[in-house]
Amino acid sequence: MTDSPHSDNVEEALLEQIDRENLPKHVAIIMDGNGRWAAQRHLPRIAGHREGIKSVREIVTVSRKLGIKALTLYAFSNENWNRPMKEITQLMILLERFLNKELKTMMENGIRFRAIGQIDRLQDSVAKLIHSVEDKTKDNNRMTLILALSYGGRTEILDAIKKACTDIQKEKLSIKDLDEKSFSQYLYTKDIPDPDLMIRTSGEVRVSNFLLWQVAYTELYFTKTPWPDFRKRDFLQAICDYQGRERRFGLVSGEQDH
Ligand code: IPE
Ligand code: IPE
Ligand code: MG
Repeated sequence: MTDSPHSDNVEEALLEQIDRENLPKHVAIIMDGNGRWAAQRHLPRIAGHREGIKSVREIVTVSRKLGIKALTLYAFSNENWNRPMKEITQLMILLERFLNKELKTMMENGIRFRAIGQIDRLQDSVAKLIHSVEDKTKDNNRMTLILALSYGGRTEILDAIKKACTDIQKEKLSIKDLDEKSFSQYLYTKDIPDPDLMIRTSGEVRVSNFLLWQVAYTELYFTKTPWPDFRKRDFLQAICDYQGRERRFGLVSGEQDH
């Protein structure tokens, strides 16, 4: 950490500015730019992923302290399976280490852990570890930390359609009852509210197959800061920015208050 007195002042000012009554309930983050962060320093890509984990810890901590109820982090996409095997293996090792190390912190801080995505595509030992951390933390209720792993938004929607069709065939669901609400229950994110705010780091202005159904009315926030440099102050800045927006949901300005 390179906390200077100056950055402390900025953080304090931002913390003061944040309205605790108007926090996003669910923040989703596309953690991008680890590789470029490392390349700028002539380091291997894995060094960027390693530094990125420090940002994960910091953002989880500040979210929990603020009182945000759900935080979803995009850690590995379906498309990321096409990266070199060496990088994938290193990422999986980092993931295992993270889960083993953070379980204690999650228990101490009432954090429930969930993973979304095609977890069965991951190596057996990793999938087992994920399920065990999900199970051990299932009664924690201060905040839910959701990791999107082997995740693709289109696949999620297709999986949901298949499950809904199976239920229709089995007469557990009738077509007339299939609406946005009931369909949502077939998604990996069932029981988790749609994100209020989605952040993408590192300058790319795209969604990259993340939570396609759920972002229908999400506020989007893009920053040039690469993920390993994205820390508490940057997160507080994003929350302040979010709080300055008017969410209209298709209505006329101010109408939703009546
Ligand atoms: C994000 O950083 C982490 C993952 C996608 C696993 P990148 O690895 O995409 O870093 P850049 O975008 O190449 O800099
Ligand atoms: C999105 O980042 C996926 C994750 C952050 C896990 P990518 O780096 O894979 O996305 P693109 O390739 O720039 O769209
Ligand atoms: Mg990237």
